[in-house]
Amino acid sequence: MAPVRPSNNDAGDPYAHNEAFWDEVTPVHAASDYYQLDKFRTGENVLHDFIVEEVGDVTGLSMLHLQCHFGLDTLNWARLGAVTTGVDISGASVERGQDLSAELSIPSTFVQANVLEMGDRFDGLFDRVFTSIGALCWIGDLAAWGEVVARALKPGGVFYIAEFHPVMDTLQQSRPITENSAAYPQYPYFGNGAPLRFDPEGDDSDYAEASFTSEETTFEWFHPMSEIVQSLLDAGLTIEQFNEYPFVTYKARQGMVQGEDGLWRLPPDVLPLPLMFTIRASKSGA
Ligand SMILES: C[S@@+](CC[C@H](N)C(=O)[O-])C[C@H]1O[C@@H](n2cnc3c(N)ncnc32)[C@H](O)[C@@H]1O
Repeated sequence: MAPVRPSNNDAGDPYAHNEAFWDEVTPVHAASDYYQLDKFRTGENVLHDFIVEEVGDVTGLSMLHLQCHFGLDTLNWARLGAVTTGVDISGASVERGQDLSAELSIPSTFVQANVLEMGDRFDGLFDRVFTSIGALCWIGDLAAWGEVVARALKPGGVFYIAEFHPVMDTLQQSRPITENSAAYPQYPYFGNGAPLRFDPEGDDSDYAEASFTSEETTFEWFHPMSEIVQSLLDAGLTIEQFNEYPFVTYKARQGMVQGEDGLWRLPPDVLPLPLMFTIRASKSGA
């Protein structure tokens, strides 16, 4: 079933629906092959190499991880030397992060909060703010999100995001990508501020566990690249680096092929599209 754009009357509170979905899926993700928790437990790192390289050395730096899910990446950054705080809307995710932190003796703080409702509690506290892979579609107001990021940074602090490219988000997961279909959007590139509603009986399977079927409707927002960039500029940040990549970190669409680097690309017979982007932006002062 195609997703629908809800009217104001039938959306309810989209964040409450999304929170319930993430509570439900958290234990499924923690047990999935996708997240490689067992590998992390044995001491190996699970952050993607290109992300670690672009973020750089975090030794001794305070880092706020927005939308940390069950804390795997947060704990990985802590293992690499950062002093981490993970924030997530899902209580189940935050609890799992706290449990993993205790189990693996990797110190980290985890806080349950909607990113847009953190208030002033983290103002000016962090050398780094980090968010990644599947975060922005859950945020309805990117102007407010940009402010959140800027407020949390210390003067001279750096924000980093690695995220699915809005162009990739226009490609429907279940539709095979061919020479004729690759560039044709099934989902909107330009959001209009209202989320799309995805009902449990829809076509798209869970990214981490294909056999999982949710009970929950979710609401996701589509943001064009310009809106993402502008939200950071409007919040006063300076963009230092912006990359677009023709790969993605998992088999996000039918027909993608995995390279020797472990990353997934569109099939060789179609022209590449941007599938991920990264941005590094800094707050002035020091
Ligand atoms: C795809 S996951 C996290 C991405 C992370 N890179 C990962 O793969 O574990 C998205 C996360 O965003 C959280 N989330 C969704 N909406 C949120 C909001 N408004 N504020 C804070 N967290 C939110 C969800 O609970 C979920 O843990």
